[in-house]
Amino acid sequence: MKRLNLAIVLLIFCVLVSAQKSTKATKSSKSVKEVPAYKNPRLAISERIADLISRMTIEEKAGQLNQISSGSLTGPSTKDEGDVKKIEQIRNGEIGSFLNLTGSKNTYDVQKIAVEETRLGIPLLFALDVIHGYKTIFPIPLAEACSWDLEEIENNQRVAAAEASSAGIHWTFAPMCDISADPRWGRVMEGAGEDPFLGALIAAARVRGFQGDLTDGKHIMACVKHFAAYGAVEAGREYNHVDISRYALWNKYLPPYKAGIDAGAATVMNSFNVFEGVPATANKYLNVDVLKHKLGFKGFTISDWNTYSEMIFHGYASDEKDCLEKAMNGGGMVEMSSQTTIKYLPELVAEGKISMAQVDEAVSKILYYKFKLGLFEQPYRYCDEQREKNELFSMQNRAVARKSAGNSIILLKNENNILPLKPTTKVALIGYYAKSKVDMFDFWTAKGEYQQAVSILEGLSTKFPNLIYSDGYKADATTTDSLINRALEAAKNADVLLVNIGLSGALSGEDRSLANIKIPAGQLELLKALKKTGKPIVALISSGRPMVLTQIQDISNVLLQCWVLGSETGNAVADVVSGLVNPSAKTVMSFPVDEGQIPVYYNHFNTGRPLPEVQGGDWFSRYRDIPNQPLYPFGYGLSYTQFAYSNVGVNRTTFSKSDTIIVKVNLKNIGKLDGLEIVQLYIQDPVASLVRPIKELKGYQKVALKQGEEKIVKFKLTANELGFYSSEGNWTIEPGEFKIMVGTNSDNVSSTVVRLVDK
Ligand code: BGC
Repeated sequence: MKRLNLAIVLLIFCVLVSAQKSTKATKSSKSVKEVPAYKNPRLAISERIADLISRMTIEEKAGQLNQISSGSLTGPSTKDEGDVKKIEQIRNGEIGSFLNLTGSKNTYDVQKIAVEETRLGIPLLFALDVIHGYKTIFPIPLAEACSWDLEEIENNQRVAAAEASSAGIHWTFAPMCDISADPRWGRVMEGAGEDPFLGALIAAARVRGFQGDLTDGKHIMACVKHFAAYGAVEAGREYNHVDISRYALWNKYLPPYKAGIDAGAATVMNSFNVFEGVPATANKYLNVDVLKHKLGFKGFTISDWNTYSEMIFHGYASDEKDCLEKAMNGGGMVEMSSQTTIKYLPELVAEGKISMAQVDEAVSKILYYKFKLGLFEQPYRYCDEQREKNELFSMQNRAVARKSAGNSIILLKNENNILPLKPTTKVALIGYYAKSKVDMFDFWTAKGEYQQAVSILEGLSTKFPNLIYSDGYKADATTTDSLINRALEAAKNADVLLVNIGLSGALSGEDRSLANIKIPAGQLELLKALKKTGKPIVALISSGRPMVLTQIQDISNVLLQCWVLGSETGNAVADVVSGLVNPSAKTVMSFPVDEGQIPVYYNHFNTGRPLPEVQGGDWFSRYRDIPNQPLYPFGYGLSYTQFAYSNVGVNRTTFSKSDTIIVKVNLKNIGKLDGLEIVQLYIQDPVASLVRPIKELKGYQKVALKQGEEKIVKFKLTANELGFYSSEGNWTIEPGEFKIMVGTNSDNVSSTVVRLVDK
């Protein structure tokens, strides 16, 4: 009996165990079935996207297309009414991305709401304008471009991306690829100057640096902006009208955007301006015909701040609903700030005014990048407080910024080789900005803290311990007799006067257009007073744009263009002044003689009335009061050593479309120091079916030469590089003669002629 009981107990036990097993099995097979395909990392991204899209309501789709600024939002514990509303919006799936929310902790807290408290758990993207660094601030992009050093430029963005990504950021609104020859425009500081060829190389380097392959958690998505032709704003006035031809669009403005896109930029931002009368935001020709079809852009577009709703002011849309309809039908995808998408997209789709296919295409692209960045599996991978601590403003990052800042400084004039200065030189440093850290920082400094930056006074004091400092002028650049007298007092015992002039960094960037870009009157008065001491004057020019230096050209014995150099400003200036760094930068924007010349740029067209080389006579294209040429041309910059060019030549003078020409030049360092020279190659197509610029940069090399060393510098040139775009955007190569020019800047070249034959 006992045995029977035991057998029954055993049997019941087995049944129970097997029942339990089968329950487990059923449960687990059920739970496998329940994991939606989009959450399954083993599936292809395309399958996951398709699954997710099929589950989304139109409201949730609209949410993915909606980006807002975080404002004061830092996390769910907020009491602020506006922030509470934003959190509610996240919970409702009404926000796909934020701009301006930073820090690993804040982004973690906000991401958690999206991932854990929304119906589908779609992670957010966090974006920021990381324009020239996140915490370690690099030279402004315009200055950085003057190094012409693509490797360094790429590496700078890699460092910026490493810092930003450690602090929760997935996406930067950079690089700005707007070609501009108008230094009145405050935003020239964000770009790479006036040349489309160099601009394109730099745009690609910047995109590569930011993005890497985008999957290691240490890189961020780039955004090519402002599409398109924002650099052509009339009279350099911010947000102004643009009116250019398609011929100019293709040849002058598009190449840098195209290069950024070819380098794989994930996103493109529309510009504030119109093109051919249609706001860029809603411009089908720009966003669909050109960007999508001709340039083959596969990522997603984002509007600029409020550009959807601003179409009402442009006079292109009647109300917000009309804005959205026009923007989306003109190729718009993500909307920044104005939030018309979440208000009106469902209605417009229901009315058949925007197709669901179009919405799905846009949403798929955004989701693609959320998958690619790994955010569905690891939504918090960019929120690592320890990594953030180690990465931000590290000694290594600052060293990279210091080197880059030194390589951005341009020596414009160096009478009697006054620079570099020996450490024993008695230096008087004059100029309020030299000590004022806040004035060293521009508008786009992400999370950089100006208090942590090295001022020019601090930097120079470490190299010249006996330096005497005096303000010379006030924060607003005006001066007084007593400030001038004190500066003269400081100058008394000095061997050399270093005078820091120019503009506060805060005057460069968005909404910083200036009609007057001359050296401020107070600083000029100061310089004139100092000139009377008879001591050599070294002007250290701080500015986010080329200024008009005509009035100080003769007063100053040395002109050092120091731009706005970020965290390491003072160290970099001291490195150059003391000769630790021999300057090698060359300007990527022409320095005008006067504002009246603007826009002045090297790659202009000839007119039917070009000025003859031997002056005289009337009825030429010119000014009666100033020259046509800029004060310093594109590509100009000196070194503490000197270089001699000779024997410009080609290996063949006639060539066909499949040939490569080798252009050669002898370069010799004839000065007293080792140095670096940027050797530039230009071409001209003198007769073409559409008139071509008088010069176009087609190549350059940054060559290191020891004192006395000589090298033959060679360039390869193919027929393809001699072509140009038609107004329809077709690349055209026309046989005939071409002028090939090599030299030290765009205005100082030797030339030879080659003939392309149609074989
Ligand atoms: C600027 C953009 C910038 C955006 C977000 C706009 O005003 O034009 O370049 O990315 O703001 O800050």
